Amino acid sequence: MAMDAVSVIRTKRDRGELSDEQIDWVIDAYTRGEVADYQMAALNMAVLLNGMNRREIARWTAAMIASGERMDFSTLSRPTADKHSTGGVGDKITLPLAPLVAACGAAVPQLSGRGLGHTGGTLDKLESIPGWRALLSNEEMLSVLDGTGAVICAAGDGLAPADKKLYALRDVTSTVEAIPLIASSIMSKKIAEGTGSLVLDVKVGTGAFMKTIEDARELASTMVGLGTDHGVKTVALLTDMSTPLGLTAGNALEVRESVEVLAGGGPADVVELTIALAREMLDAAGIKADPAKALADGSAMDVWRRMIAAQGGDPDAALPTAKEQHVVKARSTGVLTRLDAYDIGIAAWRLGAGRARKEDPVQAGAGVELHAKPGDTVREGQPLLTLHTDTPERFDYALQAVAGAYDIDAPGTAFTASPVVLERIA
Ligand code: URA
Repeated sequence: MAMDAVSVIRTKRDRGELSDEQIDWVIDAYTRGEVADYQMAALNMAVLLNGMNRREIARWTAAMIASGERMDFSTLSRPTADKHSTGGVGDKITLPLAPLVAACGAAVPQLSGRGLGHTGGTLDKLESIPGWRALLSNEEMLSVLDGTGAVICAAGDGLAPADKKLYALRDVTSTVEAIPLIASSIMSKKIAEGTGSLVLDVKVGTGAFMKTIEDARELASTMVGLGTDHGVKTVALLTDMSTPLGLTAGNALEVRESVEVLAGGGPADVVELTIALAREMLDAAGIKADPAKALADGSAMDVWRRMIAAQGGDPDAALPTAKEQHVVKARSTGVLTRLDAYDIGIAAWRLGAGRARKEDPVQAGAGVELHAKPGDTVREGQPLLTLHTDTPERFDYALQAVAGAYDIDAPGTAFTASPVVLERIA
């Protein structure tokens, strides 16, 4: 049947269901450049506004997988386990998690991304380690994975190329937050990557793409369904993203904090989530091991050092620091009852940790350091945040983002912290 982009857009614009043929055609034609960016942008917006049913999402995902190659880890002696986060602020969990799960006996192929909007990207963080390379050939990726048990790298050009184009287009057309588009984007890459099991960290809250628990549940169950239908054992944890994870948001700042976790220290919420996700990954891969022990006895740190070195990085090199700092002080004495993840993410991005345009470089040292977390008692004038950047002209713009980012209530105000893990969907 002859197809054209205008009639596919019109179907979705008028709240119709896209047929399997329409979906296969539009994804293939867009990947080949026959459907233009402006037409795909219109279709994405129609999907964001009018949604897709389960059949459409499954077919859209299958078409994205079929747009490229599939990887094969069947030669590895260990079971594969992977995790994917839907994106948050201060979400450095992949860094300690991948070596930790590898230290417990799984193979962890972690294809990661760069920052999207106000959320940080794992590759941008690791690139602050002198010498470390994100771009590996498929052979290099397998060799690092085989040799160390874990690899964190960029997805090769051949893997779900439709997603590469769509991801970049959605970022600049305000169509990121559509559940069908997020679910198909994440799951096409993970299924094409060929992992045997997958744990999804679905973030909920101001700093996440899903602001409500209902939306997060829908996204999680859509992705679990897609993974299960493709033979990938998939589990999702819904986790809190109303406040940043840990005490840092920014590339080198987050690497430093991750190394602290691997050394047996680090902020309690980062340690708790790392261990919760590690337990799920090991369980899904059928491995019985205690990740808390591998963190405490240094074996996760050993894998980290080997993994970084295998990708050209120097695990002992000093991490870059920003040239300039600006301290934000508490404006009163009392209990910090809110520290907003979205505002802190925007501030880190404005300081240079993220990009304004796809091709922009990021600053390795830029970001925000937190000196208190919700529930802590603070005194007027004490440092609350330190802003880091190489370009001090950015401070004013970042300060606008943090001006409304926190609330300090009267001393003694009762405060109940949200649990780190809110729900589990399998
Ligand atoms: N991560 C992805 O890979 N894709 C999305 O759409 C959102 C987060």
